[in-house]
Amino acid sequence: MRVVDLIEKKRDGLPLSKEELDFLIHDYSKGRIPDYQMAAFAMAVYFQDMTPEERAHLTMAMVESGDQINLTSVKGIKVDKHSTGGVGDKTTIALAPLVATLGVPVAKMSGRGLGHTGGTIDKLESIPGFNVEITTEMFIELVNKNKLAVVGQTANLTPADKKLYSLRDVTATVNSIPLIASSIMSKKIASGADAIVLDVKTGSGAFMKELADSVELAKAMVEIGNNLGRKTVAVISDMNQPLGRTVGNALEVKEAIDLLKGEGPEDLKELCLTLGSQMVFLANKADSVEEARVKLEEIIHSGKALETLKTFITAQLGDDSVVDDPSKLATAQYQIEVKAEKSGTVEKIIADRIGTAAMILGAGRATKESVIDLSVGIVLNKKIGETVQAGEALATIHTNRENIAHIIDMVKHAYKLSDQSVDTPTLIYTTVF
Ligand code: URA
Repeated sequence: MRVVDLIEKKRDGLPLSKEELDFLIHDYSKGRIPDYQMAAFAMAVYFQDMTPEERAHLTMAMVESGDQINLTSVKGIKVDKHSTGGVGDKTTIALAPLVATLGVPVAKMSGRGLGHTGGTIDKLESIPGFNVEITTEMFIELVNKNKLAVVGQTANLTPADKKLYSLRDVTATVNSIPLIASSIMSKKIASGADAIVLDVKTGSGAFMKELADSVELAKAMVEIGNNLGRKTVAVISDMNQPLGRTVGNALEVKEAIDLLKGEGPEDLKELCLTLGSQMVFLANKADSVEEARVKLEEIIHSGKALETLKTFITAQLGDDSVVDDPSKLATAQYQIEVKAEKSGTVEKIIADRIGTAAMILGAGRATKESVIDLSVGIVLNKKIGETVQAGEALATIHTNRENIAHIIDMVKHAYKLSDQSVDTPTLIYTTVF
């Protein structure tokens, strides 16, 4: 096989076979195909798209380029959840104990945050002692025992995707539905999931800004999953403003704990119930999505989900007393209010500006090497549709530095106020099966 012939075939809109895609991905990951040829191939895909069969084959070729986590010794249907990324997205921390309480095994590999969105691993590390670096044997043992464990990504998962994604980043080929969908799905499949629930974010703070693009991406990923024998469902949820009221590691953990206490913000609760009921249903732990939702609400009210969270924290050597007393989480030295200059109703909160402000404060990483401050972040006192009086706080910055005028300014300018009343935005747009 000659790479140039395959590039030409794709350039002319013809589908590639499984063998051809396997060859491309395998030889590229081994360094036998140069970046310039792979870049030309990615650009051909960008313009010519791929058939559903090609997308599934590309995904599997990337899965097979590295380690695959074998979860066969974990009893039950392993349902993984993936979010395409957003600001203030602490869903996993509340959702994992919720579904685990109903017997859904959650064996989660998570990443650290980079840029303006945070990572679950960093958030969990704001619990004193919490250890995410456990062996695969321990990981599986804990999932069998407690139905829940979270581990940092250490295995060599989908190296071909890693290499191709970096190349796409510098060749203007990230924004291609078949390439994004196969990239995300390859990581989920390599992590050992039997079924997958995707949270595809849409809006100004999301990777996909337009609803139609988010739906197209969701359909592409659901199709890949189903074609590869993994039941897959995607929920399209709003990211026109941060999720919940907190952005920053320890602050987000507290908010997730609040949710399991039956408190916390409505949007976070609604998203957890929506994603959770799909996970419980896919794992055969309820006869319908509606029944799954009722069960999830019951275990929040009974406190059982909170107990699972404590068991999970203790099993990974964390201090579970943070659940009853969240003041034991890392706390910043100063709280500085960002005050509204006029009265009005919040019309807009530019999510990625809030995310970037939190990152500059120290809550996120500008580069892979940055050291983060788990205690800092931003609390949104006001969200879209809420009224504010001049001089009242729009947001509160939790910081360990006093001199943060530029960050106060950024947060202030992330808000747009209106003289008119403003509706609360839709949270869940649609579900793709
Ligand atoms: N996230 C991924 O993992 N891959 C992409 O291609 C885009 C976003």
